[in-house]
Amino acid sequence: MAQLTLPKNSKITEGKTWPRPAKARATREYRIYRWNPEDGRNPRIDTYYVDTDDCGPMVLDGLIWIKNNVDATLTFRRSCREGICGSCAMNIDGTNTLACTKAMSDVKGPLRIYPLPHMAVVKDLVPDLTNFYAQHASIEPWLRTISPTPRQEWRQSHDDRQKLDGLYECILCACCSTACPSYWWNSDRFLGPAALLQAQRWLLDSRDEATGERLDNLEDPFRLYRCHTIMNCTKACPKHLNPAKAIADIKRTLVERQV
Ligand code: SF4
Ligand code: SF4
Ligand code: FES
Repeated sequence: MAQLTLPKNSKITEGKTWPRPAKARATREYRIYRWNPEDGRNPRIDTYYVDTDDCGPMVLDGLIWIKNNVDATLTFRRSCREGICGSCAMNIDGTNTLACTKAMSDVKGPLRIYPLPHMAVVKDLVPDLTNFYAQHASIEPWLRTISPTPRQEWRQSHDDRQKLDGLYECILCACCSTACPSYWWNSDRFLGPAALLQAQRWLLDSRDEATGERLDNLEDPFRLYRCHTIMNCTKACPKHLNPAKAIADIKRTLVERQV
């Protein structure tokens, strides 16, 4: 019979509730997923209270405030704090997004924060992105040419450059891929929306001379066609890109090249 409950060591337990900051006039409650592979304990939800008069307005500001003022063991990734590096992606209030561009005021009630879904966890809010990056590398995200290298630069018209708009802006945050049900179940074989959006970015680059090989590499029931156009990816993208359309465009190109 199918096992419909989580294994005992995966069940999330209630963790520690940390004291409210003394003298704070206004606080926000953060309920944060915690898991440390080294302590042998189950995942837990710790509760913290952030002094909102003493920190910035974004969810990431609150996490940094907790780390600096309450619990230095809280572990999460971040770098640019302005939506450029993609490292602070996590699940906030049930949605994959960037903690640095999500305002606390956009969330009603306690802020419930989990790592990106369906990924192995390294610690607390840090997912293991090894496979995600390997998939990105597999689409060969660089200019491939066979013509002799020009003396100065590979040139491109303004019109051709504009074809990359909506694709080159991807920051590889993984919010889309980890929101995709097909990726949840087949991430070992389905490339997922982030890698496929990047694949389309190189397919459309007028300077690239490996289009045929790139398409051959994608034409596979799992690598590409595991996308069932559920559109969660596009809904999740914090940069307002459209991976589902990029995937549909690749599928159309594959059909057109057979005609
Ligand atoms: S359209 Fe749906 S199935 Fe396809 S990549 Fe996006 S979320 Fe996944
Ligand atoms: S397409 Fe959007 S959600 Fe997906 S990795 Fe790129 S920026 Fe992140
Ligand atoms: S810290 Fe760089 S995108 Fe959030």
